[in-house]
Amino acid sequence: MTFEIKHRDAMGRIGILNINGKKIETPTIMPVIHPNPKKQIVSMDLINKLADVIITNSYITYKTKHLREIAEEKGIHKLIGFDKVIVTDSGSFQLGVYGDVEVEPMEIIEFQERIGVDVGTILDIPTPPDVDRERAEKELEETLKRAKASIELKEERGFKLLLNGTVQGSTYLDLRQKSAKEMAKLGFDIYPIGAVVPLMEQYRYRDVAEIIINSKMYLPTNKPVHLFGCGHPMFFALAVALGCDLFDSAAYALYAKDDRYLTERGTLHLEEIKDLKAFPCSCPVCSSYTPKELASLNKKERERLLAEHNLYVTFEEINRIKQAIRDGSLWELVEERVRCHPKLLEAYRVVRKYIDYIEKFDPVTKKSAFFYTGIESMFRPEVLRHKKRLKRLRYEKVYITTVSSSIEKPYHEHLNVVETDVDILIKDPVFGFIPYYIDTVYPLSQHEIPELFDYEKEINKRFVDEFIDWLKKKIGEDNILDIMTYNYYINYFSANKKINADALRIRKMLQYQYGFDIIDDELMNKIKVVRSKTTGRLRQVLDENGEILFSVRSNDNLLIPSEKGAKLLWKKIPFPKYRVVVNKEAEEFAREGRNVFAKFVIDCDEELRPYEEVLVVNEDDELLAYGTTILNGIELREFNYGLAVKVRGGLK
Ligand code: GUN
Repeated sequence: MTFEIKHRDAMGRIGILNINGKKIETPTIMPVIHPNPKKQIVSMDLINKLADVIITNSYITYKTKHLREIAEEKGIHKLIGFDKVIVTDSGSFQLGVYGDVEVEPMEIIEFQERIGVDVGTILDIPTPPDVDRERAEKELEETLKRAKASIELKEERGFKLLLNGTVQGSTYLDLRQKSAKEMAKLGFDIYPIGAVVPLMEQYRYRDVAEIIINSKMYLPTNKPVHLFGCGHPMFFALAVALGCDLFDSAAYALYAKDDRYLTERGTLHLEEIKDLKAFPCSCPVCSSYTPKELASLNKKERERLLAEHNLYVTFEEINRIKQAIRDGSLWELVEERVRCHPKLLEAYRVVRKYIDYIEKFDPVTKKSAFFYTGIESMFRPEVLRHKKRLKRLRYEKVYITTVSSSIEKPYHEHLNVVETDVDILIKDPVFGFIPYYIDTVYPLSQHEIPELFDYEKEINKRFVDEFIDWLKKKIGEDNILDIMTYNYYINYFSANKKINADALRIRKMLQYQYGFDIIDDELMNKIKVVRSKTTGRLRQVLDENGEILFSVRSNDNLLIPSEKGAKLLWKKIPFPKYRVVVNKEAEEFAREGRNVFAKFVIDCDEELRPYEEVLVVNEDDELLAYGTTILNGIELREFNYGLAVKVRGGLK
């Protein structure tokens, strides 16, 4: 099995999962299929059209004589009528519901192998929420024992099937962490997070969110995570943003049995909508029937059509999430979805507690602008990161000021031009401060914020005060001047000496992007900054010979180095910062400007974030290439498959 990240946003990723030569794009949903074709209400033709992977139950197959015979003789793919990837559950769900199953843990592993499933599941114990700690611990020990035995059996017998190692631990977050750590050591292929169904049924989304995060923190980043038993599309966006890659849905069929109609915003009863002229959906079912027509059909037909609709909307939401990941607007989609139920909003609000961890995975640049949708946006990783990176700038003398909310961004294009070597920090109600000289860099001019209420502004105030205290310690109180409102006197107040404002802008932008002073005083006098003749915007940074050092990328204003720029970065940034270290095998490829794959990476700056501009070096820190990292510092070490650095150029 291989798993590779193609696009990402928040902790969500679009991945390519290759199982037995069959490719699945994640995130995705696995429809739950009944192994008995007579009990399967949606046709396998439709399942084949929509799904690349399904999940069925090996325990029911094992216990039902005629199903077992077909599965053992012809294999699970023939029994189900599905050639693509088949995952099976082990009977754990039945164990959770009935308290017992009539199969031994190793027997069900052997059976799953025998019938040719692609991914089998251990017979884990789904401990319910809120049980006493003793029980949760005891059952977790048993799950871990079975997990170890299952892996040993697979290895000893050379089984082909891949295995799901389910994380348990009830609602004890430390037990979830322990479970994730221990499961990770055993080396499973996929990590489901188990026993969340009762929590989902009780709308305890906050508990589910905390369980996901506390598990994710200790699971390997290079393996897919499956949220077991979560089939309602309303929760997908948040779960994906927290790092879940796979979902399964029995909900599409179960809800249809009770005449329930799924939407990405919640569930409607057919009775509630039967007087509508048309369904609020354009799937093939909803565009062929009016609610009244559907309601008048016999029970069996109605159930089938509702299940089909439920399946269409479930996949539709997955596709919407994928598009949001590509656009860099997954948080915006999450913020939209969590407003569909206060309990979902509560779950989203808990994310704030873990934002330091989540920020490590959130890309440093996004295609779309940061949209503020409510007070929770204040705690998003983009905001947190900016507040941390503000401390990367070198300050000597600072003016703190505000500008009228009617002034457009980037500020420096709409305010009186300033030519000063003083740092002007413009107060911002969300981002704390926007330094005048870096005001074009993502997300400082790529955001939309509505008029805020005072209590929202208050949240920012604590940071502002803390930052000013930090600044006072750094440069002394005398070097900080609060000039209230931005005005043309800034020029008057400023140092008299003539400065190269654009060169200073580039210097500050590089400090912000890399945390080091790349353009020193000497270089300041040599570089030439080119602005576009048509738009007046920053375009390029040239050295004294007129050769390009950096290009300014138009959408986010990040500085993209040329070969010369990369050499300069390498000279100015100490090892291992901004480095991705590759082994000897990859050296020549990198020098030729070919992409760097994760399996060649032996070390890196662990603080790297996705989509940062990095230096590719060998173990002796010789510069080989430069490019954009797809993975963060944790993933670069853990992934052994797929693209790691998209190389822009190599050094021969
Ligand atoms: N289906 C829903 N929840 C679970 C779980 O915790 N374990 C297994 N194996 N299957 C499930």
